[in-house]
Amino acid sequence: MSEERKLRVGVIGCGHWGPNHIRVFEELDRSMVLACADLNRQRLARVQDRFPHVRTTTRYRELLDDPAIDAIVVATPTATHFELTADCLRAGKHVLVEKPLCLVSHEALQLSDLAHAQRRVLMVGHVFLFNGGIIKLRELIAAGELGQVRYLDAVRTNLGPVRGDVNALYDLATHDISICNYLLASAPVAVSALGRCISQETIEDVAFATLQYPDGTLAHLHASWLNPRKMRTLTAVGSSKMAHWDDVDPQDTLRLYDKGLDEPPYYNSFGEFQYLIRSADVHVPAIKRTEPLLRQAEAFTSWVLDGHRRGPDATDGWRVVATLEAAMESMRNNGAMVDVDPNPRITPTRTMPRAAVPLLGLTGAHADREEQDTKADPVIAR
Ligand SMILES: NC(=O)c1ccc[n+]([C@@H]2O[C@H](COP(=O)([O-])OP(=O)(O)OC[C@H]3O[C@@H](n4cnc5c(N)ncnc54)[C@H](O)[C@@H]3O)[C@@H](O)[C@H]2O)c1
Repeated sequence: MSEERKLRVGVIGCGHWGPNHIRVFEELDRSMVLACADLNRQRLARVQDRFPHVRTTTRYRELLDDPAIDAIVVATPTATHFELTADCLRAGKHVLVEKPLCLVSHEALQLSDLAHAQRRVLMVGHVFLFNGGIIKLRELIAAGELGQVRYLDAVRTNLGPVRGDVNALYDLATHDISICNYLLASAPVAVSALGRCISQETIEDVAFATLQYPDGTLAHLHASWLNPRKMRTLTAVGSSKMAHWDDVDPQDTLRLYDKGLDEPPYYNSFGEFQYLIRSADVHVPAIKRTEPLLRQAEAFTSWVLDGHRRGPDATDGWRVVATLEAAMESMRNNGAMVDVDPNPRITPTRTMPRAAVPLLGLTGAHADREEQDTKADPVIAR
């Protein structure tokens, strides 16, 4: 009996995060890492020490020219995602690109189109969609346990790491936008945001954003790398129950509260009417505990090998980028509510030549495109 061929992976970017991708793709039975690239030789030397059989190079194009490599992980700074991902797709590689997909939404659309044209998988590393607590919360919401979700409130803070390429919104709130979209199975139509540049002149260390979803549900996000406490929380308030996710709490990561405001059974006049506070059981659902990054790698591997979509694609990535863009425009307008443009394809004035796009001064441009059938060619011969 012939053994199943493994997905052969290359990793571009071996800084803080890239080596974690190497580790998880090495750990899986159905994948292996052949080579990695980084501009920094010291970082490559560290990878070589840890994974002696993985080839290293400072020229990422060597990975693209290698026909033995099926798929590439792009784990470089956000500003480089568009060009590197496009190059990988043009070379016929499947791509798992770190979050956010890229800086601006028109580039996200180009990447989506390119992946489609090349019939290659383009998955975005929205890793929290592989977090056991978030998956359970989505199951509870989808099963109607919370009733109708009224609002979400997410906090993602820590002291560092401070980035010099993107602000706290792009770096941190990206995760929470992808989580909220996933939980609500929807995407925001408008955003209001404020941020402050404290440690650097033009890069916001802290941002507060409010997202409005089409059915009126609100999501509030607090993202900061200038905060004394590491917090990764999300509260979901529903019409019948409430839930609280705390990724930093290893015991009670997700709590489901049977709490809310109930109407009194009878009242004679409006003056007598008073909501009754319901404060019943707190339930701690069992959660499957596996490393989200490993699950993400497994999903990507399966998506490529088996040809069925298994995670966030370019359209999901584009929705997040489009929301970030609108939030940036709101920040520049002192928190004004900015619409998330539903169709950038018919608003060409918003698509600028790449050179004219400032790194952090982005304009809002979105599209609510139909979910594409992202089923790719299963490229691996058995
Ligand atoms: N999902 C998560 O939880 C998570 C966590 C951390 C970082 N990230 C994402 O991962 C990406 C990388 O973040 P990081 O913290 O590792 O950054 P980093 O700056 O530590 O590492 C980036 C590496 O990319 C290399 N690089 C840049 N351009 C290159 C090129 N053209 N060819 C080869 N190498 C190149 C740099 O030399 C550097 O070593 C970012 O997109 C970030 O948002 C995601």
